[in-house]
This record gives sequence, C-alpha cells and structure tokens, in this order.
Amino acid sequence: MTERTTEYRRIPLEELNYNSYLQVPQLLQLQEQQSEPPHHDEMFFIIIHQSFELWFKEMLHETDLMVRYFRSGSVSRVLKVVKRINAIMSCLCDQIQLLHTLTPAEFAGFRERLGTGSGFQSVQFREMEFAFGLREEFFLQFFEDDVFGVERLRARWQAPSVYDEFLRAIAAAGYPVPAHLLEGEDGHTHELDPGLVEVLHQLYQEPDDNYHWILVCEALLDFDMLVSKWRAVHILMVSRTIGGQIGTGGSSGKAFLEQRVHHRFFPELWEVRNSFFS
Ligand code: HEM
Repeated sequence: MTERTTEYRRIPLEELNYNSYLQVPQLLQLQEQQSEPPHHDEMFFIIIHQSFELWFKEMLHETDLMVRYFRSGSVSRVLKVVKRINAIMSCLCDQIQLLHTLTPAEFAGFRERLGTGSGFQSVQFREMEFAFGLREEFFLQFFEDDVFGVERLRARWQAPSVYDEFLRAIAAAGYPVPAHLLEGEDGHTHELDPGLVEVLHQLYQEPDDNYHWILVCEALLDFDMLVSKWRAVHILMVSRTIGGQIGTGGSSGKAFLEQRVHHRFFPELWEVRNSFFS
C-alpha cells in the first residue's frame, strides 16, 4: 500500500479553494445546448469554442502587457511576452484538430441550431487582428449594432497597434523609420512601405549591435506565421466538416476563408527577406 504523505482534511465552506477560486460551478453553467433533445456532440462544439475564447482573452491580456513593455523600452520582456503569445497560438493550431473527431453527420445533427452563429463573429478574434495591426473597416461596421463588440473594437481601432509600437521602439533606438509611419493615425491599415523594408534590411545587417531587435522581428514573424497556420488548419477542418457549403455566418465558406490566409500583419518583415537575395 502507498503511504500518504499529506494530511487531507475537509475544506471549510468559507475557505478559498480550487472550485471557488476558479468559479468552477459558475463556469460549468455556461454550456447551454440549443438542440432539443440535446445532441451529444453539441456540448463538445460549445466547449471547444468557449476554450478558444478564453485563450483569445489571455492573448489580448498579454498583448496589452507587450505594448507597455515596448513603450518602456524593455526589449527582453517584450520577447518573453511574445514567446507566451506564440506558445498559445501554437496550441490553438493543434486544438483545431479536436474537431476532426466531429463527422459531417454529427455536425449536421445540430448545425441549424447555431442560427447565424459563426467564428466570423468572434469579437476577440477581430480584436487580436486589430491589436496587431490588421484593421479592416468592414469589421468595425459589421459590429456596429453589437454593444459588446463595438466598444471593444473601437478602442482597439483607436489605439496604436503592436506594429506601431514596434516601429516607435526601433525609431527610439536610432533606426530611421520613415516619419509618416510614426504619426500613429487612428485605425489605419498598414500597407507595405519600401522605406521601412530598407530600415529592416539595415537592422538585420548589423547583428552585433542589435541582436535583441532581430529576435523581436523574428518573434513577431513567428506570430504572423502561426496566425496564417491557424487560418490554414481551420480551412482544412472546415473542408472536412462541411465541404464547400456556405458558412453559418453567411460567407461563401471555404472560398472566403482561403482569401484570408494571405493576410499578413507585418508585410515588411516578409519583404525584407527578398532584399538579401537580389
Ligand atoms: C465545425 C467547426 C467549424 C466550422 C464548420 C467552421 C466554419 C467556418 C466558416 C464557414 C467560416 C466563414 C464565415 C462564415 O460564413 O461562417 C468560419 C470563420 C471563422 N471561424 Fe470557424 N468553423 C468551425 C470552428 C471554429 C472554431 C473552433 C473557431 C475558434 C474560435 C473558429 C473561428 C473562426 C473565425 C475566427 C473565423 C473568421 C476567420 C477570418 O475572418 O479569417 N471556427 N468558420
């Protein structure tokens, strides 16, 4: 028989414990199935989406911290935070495969109960896009009547993006970032800037003086890659689940999603690769 090393005791009701600290009873109340009678797989579908939303929340929380570190010039702390964000994003890519266990017939058994509900309407996903600098006015208008969404998205739209903060930080470190990129207009969508490609080329050329900045560039590029990877694995999962059918959100489905795989947060970090081989 194994010996007990800890004294177990009953937990007094008033004491903070695992279940009360994490509000587990409240959390377990939030999985409300719409199908009648309840379809077994709808619970699985709800839990996957809710866990994605929790991770989006955590990533936004980390992103806000990263912005503060950019502003205070704490480069090593920026790196630490991006590392965590990227680790979460990597898990989210893997998490998509849970849905490979949902057959088309199972999904068809409750899909109509979703109404127009679609990940397309995820406010936090759009917040992430906005926070990192991918800002499409369409989405601001799309959430106009959604009280929960519109305020959060407007705030992200008006705040400088992670890319803006990065450019300000390397400008403060002495890199000649084109002035118009530092003006920080609200809600602008970043377009590839040839002047910035040259600055990044210079930054990558001088590794001895600024290796920490190269690491930041590479970590941001990792994030960009991971989001594209997430988009790609999501499309594959969508294809195996609903084929080429239109989405519950009303888009063309797979075709709509495919055009979004090519969206990039940091176009110059991609473009600068070319400048070493021309
Ligand atoms: C059976 C599972 C799923 C199916 C069939 C599916 C299908 C789709 C489709 C067809 C779209 C295009 C918009 C539309 O018309 O609805 C879409 C968009 C989207 N879905 Fe899913 N999805 C699934 C699971 C998920 C999960 C687990 C997430 C995690 C949050 C998610 C997040 C998103 C996001 C963020 C978009 C917008 C993508 C963008 O704008 O680039 N989806 N989904």
